[in-house]
Amino acid sequence: MSVERTLIVIKPDAVKRGLIGEILARFERKGFKIARLKMLKMSRECAERFYDVHRGKHFFESLVEFMTSTPVVAAVLEGPNAIEVVRLMIGPTDGRRAPPGTIRGDYALDIQENTIHASDSPERAAFEESVIFDPKCPESE
Ligand code: CMP
Repeated sequence: MSVERTLIVIKPDAVKRGLIGEILARFERKGFKIARLKMLKMSRECAERFYDVHRGKHFFESLVEFMTSTPVVAAVLEGPNAIEVVRLMIGPTDGRRAPPGTIRGDYALDIQENTIHASDSPERAAFEESVIFDPKCPESE
């Protein structure tokens, strides 16, 4: 059993709907430790850096617009096999196809406005944590 860190971002659609507490509670109940927590309004530069792997894709511009529209909440979660377990808990990208019982399955009906992001590898988790917790990505007022 390897203890890992992963990064999640509760996206603008979920923050606007008042789901921050409900979503964080699911990870706490599962047994993950919230190691870091930050509410921020992403700047364009921060969002473009965070999603650098998607640059050039047809949805990139719209994704950046969405992620910078209103505040988000980011958390670093720590626990056994955190990357894989958290990805299982959030479900597939498209909220319409995500099975009930997963976070996207329970809260999302869209492929872009899909409630939550979670890192897909330890390398990405470390990179995404460094982007989000960089003082250049300032906290929301
Ligand atoms: P996320 O897991 O944060 O990773 C990249 C994000 O891009 C994804 O969730 C969605 O919000 C968005 N995304 C992925 N594929 C598409 C798509 N085909 N159309 C629109 N948005 C997408």
